[in-house]
Amino acid sequence: MEENKNELELIHSKALEDVANVKTSEDLQNVRNEYLSKKSKLMSLMASMREMTKEQKAEFGQIINKIKTEIAEKVEAKKEELEAKALNAKLEKEVIDFTLPSRSYSKGSKHPFQMVVDEVSQIFIGMGYDIAEGPEVETDEYNFELLNVPKGHPARDMQDSFFINESLLMRSQTSPVQAHVMKAANGVGPIKIISPGKVYRRDDDATHSHQFGQIEGLVIDKNINMGNLLSTLQLFVKKMFGEKREVRLRSSYFPFTEPSVEYDVSCFNCGGKGCSLCKGTGWIEIGGAGMVHPNVLKMSGFDEKEYQGFAFGVGVDRIAMLKYGIDDIRKLYTNDKRFNKQFNRD
Ligand code: PHE
Repeated sequence: MEENKNELELIHSKALEDVANVKTSEDLQNVRNEYLSKKSKLMSLMASMREMTKEQKAEFGQIINKIKTEIAEKVEAKKEELEAKALNAKLEKEVIDFTLPSRSYSKGSKHPFQMVVDEVSQIFIGMGYDIAEGPEVETDEYNFELLNVPKGHPARDMQDSFFINESLLMRSQTSPVQAHVMKAANGVGPIKIISPGKVYRRDDDATHSHQFGQIEGLVIDKNINMGNLLSTLQLFVKKMFGEKREVRLRSSYFPFTEPSVEYDVSCFNCGGKGCSLCKGTGWIEIGGAGMVHPNVLKMSGFDEKEYQGFAFGVGVDRIAMLKYGIDDIRKLYTNDKRFNKQFNRD
């Protein structure tokens, strides 16, 4: 019994020393195994109680339990100490430095195409026009037939591009919006709209893309004449390209206008003297225009004897290219932020 007590005391003090010396959680686990597990030295001492008297058993049992509890408490305290240390170390390592500059990112900017659309829209909104929208997937009826271009008409050839099935295509021009707006008006004017949007044709070179932009203009009212069209275009090009700019009309042909014209602006680079931008002519082509054909008025529900109208188209990409000196239209559609940024530094 005395011998056992001595051994117990030895184990006790060694255990306390070992716990105190623990540095890591693995050490702690080892210490726990050594002194508190089923195979520990304390447990083997317990086994020796079999040979003791009842009183001795009681006394020895009590001592051994006390020691076990004490070691367990010390181990638990050590565990908490180690955990607290680990947490502090982690917090110290993860300290947030609010003075660090944030990671930089590059901000996008308005696309030159959209800059032109916005500028043109603002000018016409200022003249009292509304903005109208139309679908990019269009019916043959709206893209051609209601614009006085029946099936088999030769004027289809240059626009007859991306058909989805026999009666649906990617619209080749914004002019179908004319028919949509007129039909929605139920034969009652006035109408004054512009309609910016994407159009699609089977084209692909430095100045033609299979996707490009147009802005359609349409005015329908009573007593509308060619003079109204000319003065509208004059006001537009002066606001868009400068007060000194002039408009030139050249006769042309579109099935949905009669008479039809193409309109040019005096070169905003050389003022009309002739330069590389206007290819020496002094004029830059902007788009097509004309008086709305009576058939078109009639087909979309307007009394062609009561109402007249004019329509015009603006080539968005062309203006963007000329204005910003872009040499290849395809650059407008490559989504390169470095390219877009050059035109807009906001
Ligand atoms: N839609 C014609 C084109 O794409 C342009 C145009 C619009 C002509 C309006 C006359 C009137 O070529």
